[in-house]
Amino acid sequence: MHNGRTTLSKFLIQQLKGSPELSDLAALLIDIAAAVKAISAMTAKGELGDVLGSLETQNVQGEIQKKLDVMSNTAFVNTFALGGLVAGLASEEMDDPIVIEAQDEPGRFLAIFDPLDGSSNIDINVSVGSIFSVLRAPKGRVPEVKDYLLSGREQVAAGYAIYGPSTMLVLTVGKGTHGFTLDREVGNFILTHRDMQIPEDTSEFAINASNERFWEPPVQRYVAECKNGRTDVRGRDFNMRWIASMVADIHRILLRGGVFMYPKDTKDLSKSGRLRLMYEANPMSFVVEQAGGIGSTGRQRILDIQPEEIHQRVPVIIGSRNEVDRIERYHQEYENGSDEQYKSPLFQERSLFAS
Ligand code: F6P
Repeated sequence: MHNGRTTLSKFLIQQLKGSPELSDLAALLIDIAAAVKAISAMTAKGELGDVLGSLETQNVQGEIQKKLDVMSNTAFVNTFALGGLVAGLASEEMDDPIVIEAQDEPGRFLAIFDPLDGSSNIDINVSVGSIFSVLRAPKGRVPEVKDYLLSGREQVAAGYAIYGPSTMLVLTVGKGTHGFTLDREVGNFILTHRDMQIPEDTSEFAINASNERFWEPPVQRYVAECKNGRTDVRGRDFNMRWIASMVADIHRILLRGGVFMYPKDTKDLSKSGRLRLMYEANPMSFVVEQAGGIGSTGRQRILDIQPEEIHQRVPVIIGSRNEVDRIERYHQEYENGSDEQYKSPLFQERSLFAS
């Protein structure tokens, strides 16, 4: 039981007051919560709901769509269209953004979302999620593609839902990161994780290690040092976790620290990373940075990237501040050649020769 329960609506009314734009943002986030509840109900049915399995179709990324990808996309699109608070939306599951016809007044916002992230996990009953990012719409005209191509720093809100043993909504409007748990019987999201803070240090990392041979040397160096644990420069043992569901991996990191990596690799040279900037890396970086962590490509803060296209991919290194700082340093040392020293035991951080 939570004494003096704060519902999502009550929280947003308190956090977002003072202007019509803020009230509309609160209303939009409540709409997003409604779509999340619908998707939570669908995913929870599993095999009983005729929602599992793949379709014949592919999305713009060339990935086979799951039934639930398409159903979740429809849940978001319908919610946004009926709500009238967005002027347009873009989704992982749609090639191009769509314009939402204005009702009384044009919507003040643009929504970008990944309706069902990690959907390869859905058929095996492992946690999946939805990710969303909210931007300001242009005033006085219909939005065009270029209006979505704003850096992550321009986001007015972002967050994710995780459909796990419980359904949670975690969001930020730039005033900290807060988590709400769905009380299924009542249908309300209740504030359960106020002002989440990622521990600065960690002994846990998340990466798809089957790609190791394709990684760049700075990432190979970092992971090798973690695996060497107390026998090497880190001086302590590390643990590895990989759920293959970005939402679930980042959720764990928000709660107990860690670093999540889908770094640049040479597996497919036509792609500059695995994850998508606008509806995965940007919203997750906003959420993580508001909780004291960092989102980086290894060379640049994700929130500083000027997007070039809606479905753009980027390398992602995100999580506990000190670990991401270290991995960025390894990238710099690799670029300027000073990492050569790490290969010699004489110059390792804990050696007599370390400065
Ligand atoms: O959307 C991409 C995604 O499903 C993420 O949720 C997840 O972190 C990653 O891909 C898993 O990739 P892989 O299948 O290479 O482990």
